[in-house]
Amino acid sequence: MSRGIALITGASSGIGEALAHQFAGQGFDLIITARRGDLLANLAETLEETVQVDIITCDLAAPEGAQTLFDAVTELGKPVDILVNNAGVAHSDEFHKLEPQQVSQLIALNITALTTLSHLFLNEMVARGSGRILNVASVAAFQPVPAMSLYAASKAFVLSLTEALSEELRGTGVSVTALCPGLTKTEMVEQLAAGDVPEVFMSSTTTVAREGYEALMAREVIRIPGLANQAAVTWAQHQPRWLVRGIGGFISKFRPPR
Ligand SMILES: NC(=O)c1ccc[n+]([C@@H]2O[C@H](COP(=O)([O-])OP(=O)(O)OC[C@H]3O[C@@H](n4cnc5c(N)ncnc54)[C@H](OP(=O)(O)O)[C@@H]3O)[C@@H](O)[C@H]2O)c1
Repeated sequence: MSRGIALITGASSGIGEALAHQFAGQGFDLIITARRGDLLANLAETLEETVQVDIITCDLAAPEGAQTLFDAVTELGKPVDILVNNAGVAHSDEFHKLEPQQVSQLIALNITALTTLSHLFLNEMVARGSGRILNVASVAAFQPVPAMSLYAASKAFVLSLTEALSEELRGTGVSVTALCPGLTKTEMVEQLAAGDVPEVFMSSTTTVAREGYEALMAREVIRIPGLANQAAVTWAQHQPRWLVRGIGGFISKFRPPR
């Protein structure tokens, strides 16, 4: 018997795909979404042996993308118990060198879509008196990251929004959790040339997804997977901001060529 329905954005690869396996393994039916429908279909085929899976292909960075997804979910007539805002993009370059389209796409996906989906589904969840949201932020949310400035700023937004909502939602039966992974072996990391980073410094998508699931079910507000990531965040939080951004600026000069 199903434990409820989880809607997972960005489920076609990486952490989102691992989250789909995690939730299915725990008995949740799924609604999975991304742009690459073929990858979603392959994933659904694997998971449908144990749970029900609906697929919605959707470009969440398109104007009205989040509303389109919300309308499609409403049409399915299945109440969403868990919303996982995982879809995201990253660009690694100096801010002024990014293409205008890269800037607008990152803001549209990492900030606008996540915010709109949270807003739309929270209305339903609060009215029902139950529900959970998992927002995938990053360790980059805790300090500025030169040469990934917009990405880090978008994740700081996600973390700030999540923390504030967690307080607003007290007593409603609804909770919101920020999952803040460090480097995790996915397509995103390979595209950023961080694929050259030795694997020992990277988390696996399975571990990150398991931690995200555990934090969500425990209604934790912030979860940082991995001791090294927790130590790095704690260190940065106890230093003066000029030092943290200065070290980030120094490291950014040694970025691998793209
Ligand atoms: N990997 C890391 O080191 C790391 C660390 C911290 C946080 N994160 C966060 O983890 C999340 C997942 O990233 P990942 O590392 O798993 O990367 P990934 O493998 O590239 O996955 C990104 C997912 O987002 C979807 N997506 C991208 N653009 C989209 C759009 N316009 N509309 C709808 N879906 C879109 C992609 O699907 P389609 O291309 O099929 O649309 C894909 O399923 C992101 O929010 C990222 O910021 C990653």
